[in-house]
Amino acid sequence: AIERTLSIIKPDAVAKDVIGQIYSRFENAGLKIIAARMVKLSRAEAEGFYAEHRERPFFKDLVDFMMSGPVMVQVLEGDNAIAKNRELMGATNPKEADKGTIRADFADSIDANAVHGSDSATAATKEIAFFFPETQTYSR
Ligand code: CMP
Repeated sequence: AIERTLSIIKPDAVAKDVIGQIYSRFENAGLKIIAARMVKLSRAEAEGFYAEHRERPFFKDLVDFMMSGPVMVQVLEGDNAIAKNRELMGATNPKEADKGTIRADFADSIDANAVHGSDSATAATKEIAFFFPETQTYSR
């Protein structure tokens, strides 16, 4: 089924100037970028986006990292988009990510892991609304 998912290119990958390379992977896999914006997250925004992780020991480091520089946020649309994006990203910990995945190729650590992607349909709906509440999307 055609799905939508939220993708974030994190500060480490933006700083490395690999936005274009990552976008090519999405496009080559049939994931269309139907909305996008660059944003420097405030603490409140980073904490709000990752609210479900509030009690985790890595929460503070995660929030500090996500505020450390601009991020590129996009909505991807395509067949089976949520799982397909997670396949392209590879495992959360780049040391465990399969060869040829975005995290294997561009990520440095479990915090600086290059990309985020929604992990379920429920999360995708919530995360898209968080970043694109009134934004026009452009399916094609
Ligand atoms: P992300 O998919 O953006 O969702 C939460 C982030 O927390 C995750 O990617 C990692 O970058 C970061 N993180 C740091 N430590 C851990 C951990 N032990 N388990 C899961 N995520 C972690």
